[in-house]
Amino acid sequence: MKLWGGRFRKEEDKAVHCFNESLSFDRRLYRQDIEGSMAHARMLARQGIITLEDRDAILDGLQGILEDIENGSLAFSEEYEDIHSFVEANLTDRIGEAGKRLHTGRSRNDQVALDMKMYCRAQTAEIRELVKELQQALLTLMEENVETYMPGFTHLQKAQPVTLAHHMGAYFEMFERDRGRLADAGRRMNTCPLGAGALAGTTYPLDRAYTAESLGFDGPTYNSMDSVSDRDYVIELLSALALISMHLSRFSEEIILWNSNEYGFVEIDDAYSTGSSIMPQKKNPDIAELVRGKTGRVYGDLMALLTTMKGLPLAYDKDMQEDKEPAFDAIDTVKSCLRLFTGMISTLSFRKDRMEASAKNGFTNATDAADYLVSRGVPFRDAHGIVGQLVLLCLDRGIALDDLSLSEYRAVSPVFDEDIYDAISLGTCVKKRTVTGAPGPEAMREAIEKCRSRLASGEERA
Ligand code: ARG
Repeated sequence: MKLWGGRFRKEEDKAVHCFNESLSFDRRLYRQDIEGSMAHARMLARQGIITLEDRDAILDGLQGILEDIENGSLAFSEEYEDIHSFVEANLTDRIGEAGKRLHTGRSRNDQVALDMKMYCRAQTAEIRELVKELQQALLTLMEENVETYMPGFTHLQKAQPVTLAHHMGAYFEMFERDRGRLADAGRRMNTCPLGAGALAGTTYPLDRAYTAESLGFDGPTYNSMDSVSDRDYVIELLSALALISMHLSRFSEEIILWNSNEYGFVEIDDAYSTGSSIMPQKKNPDIAELVRGKTGRVYGDLMALLTTMKGLPLAYDKDMQEDKEPAFDAIDTVKSCLRLFTGMISTLSFRKDRMEASAKNGFTNATDAADYLVSRGVPFRDAHGIVGQLVLLCLDRGIALDDLSLSEYRAVSPVFDEDIYDAISLGTCVKKRTVTGAPGPEAMREAIEKCRSRLASGEERA
């Protein structure tokens, strides 16, 4: 069933139909398509372009289609080219003549742009909520672990002691930026292309402000050619999703490391782990690995659409039908990753004793030993050298800085005193990091307060 058979002498080849169709994937836009058509029909009647009777017949017919799709009595049959053809043909089957008037002053080009924008807008809002739920889970972990010590790493080598609250706080910030990016993309996509027609507007006296407002947009788009050829909003959403995936992937990588026998910092809940078909002892972090792995396809989706759009002349080109599958795939993938990741994180057990023990070895307090000397007047560069010598000494004997005797300290520098042991204890090392953004308990409690109020206010930090 075609919307455009008039000027053709021959039926479309079957393979061409299959290659050209989009109903198999754009059927998920049925709700947006119907809502958009309802707003368009109301506007046409308000402007005297169709009669009130036709409007009512169209609205009833569309409502019936919506209900029948949702209750499963109306199936998407393959002979239609896309969701727009499907809905329009069904409408005309149901209500006759009036159905044929719906497309007055409209093109599938502004129609598909509208559907896609409305869909992306709704998904953007849903994903923002999912990110927020993950941040909520992180905030709980932060509140509970202000004094849970663990090593902080650089180059994956133990560096300085931090806390679990601080480490979780780093991810909180990443997801806060993600939420901000989604909000920003959502704001920018909220302009209505309906009324742009095929590319050059229309000669009917449409009220674009009315349809824009009734569909919840901030207003109509300003240029009709741009309206039908713009897919920036999909790309912006996919970019935000790519960054979310990157953050989830880095987080997954850490969970996988922490869950390994060697680290043993965490244990993933049985409900979020899987076993091996051959090795009975195994409990694998498959969910974290899949979340990490799926990042590849989300990046791919973004690259696919960027590449599709590159070099397209104005205005609409059929290439743009290729926006849908990558967009839908990235949206579905990121939503399921966020849901599963939040579940996994909220049920994770932390082996705090192992984390603390790990923070205690590996010289994470070496900087603090140097700072101790600085507080007694030694220039930092000299202090660095002195502690470096002490580290060498410890390495030779397989011990920690805490295990050296005072006379051994003094043999390297007479500045050391009995209070060195307290100065380099794990608790002191963390407690003294009071600068904004640092893991010290005071700074951390302030940071947690800010996180809490940012989540509550609904305003992401830009
Ligand atoms: N299925 C098409 C798409 O997704 C709808 C627009 C078709 N417009 C056209 N002039 N062929 O882009």
